[in-house]
Amino acid sequence: MLELPDPCLVVLVGAAGSGKSTLAARLFAADEVLSSDAYRGIVAGDASDQSATLAAFRRLHADLHRRLAERRTTVVDATNVTAFARRSLTRIAARHGVAAVAIVLDLDPALVQARNAARQARIVPTPAVARQLADLARSLRRAELDDEGFETIHRVATAAEVDAIRIVR
Ligand code: CTP
Ligand code: MG
Repeated sequence: MLELPDPCLVVLVGAAGSGKSTLAARLFAADEVLSSDAYRGIVAGDASDQSATLAAFRRLHADLHRRLAERRTTVVDATNVTAFARRSLTRIAARHGVAAVAIVLDLDPALVQARNAARQARIVPTPAVARQLADLARSLRRAELDDEGFETIHRVATAAEVDAIRIVR
């Protein structure tokens, strides 16, 4: 059972295909989730347009600022596999005095690639997923998240553990 402070920032961490959006949809209300793909869709008209990343995250960060100022619990559904990406989020939470919680989907790379390849829409190129998996593995090997300002780091390593995640708030 994962106890969430109210309000809090929830940072999902995992490569494309690891099941972040699926998990977010199970645990949180749709209006609590800021998804990088949705912002790419807003700024570029295409949820998979990677050239829109900078503009998409600028909007996402601005909305996160606003929501945390209003003390509304917010989930960021993006890969967040690099310290740079995560720190930009925890910095915003800290500025508003809101606790940050990481949920890390550290799944078998073969499972993640297979899920991504089996998707109906928006298949991410295999090398891009491999890069994200490598970035996450490096972050975990170096225990980077420990120094990024998270109050709680909830790390799961199997699909069964993901399915078992329950939250209370
Ligand atoms: N999936 C699955 N079983 C799960 C979770 C996800 O079969 N327990 C499938 C989904 O149906 C989807 C794929 O795996 O086809 C990827 O799941 P998704 O939640 O979309 O992954 P994300 O991490 O959100 O991927 P992205 O970063 O690309 O948005
Ligand atoms: Mg997703």
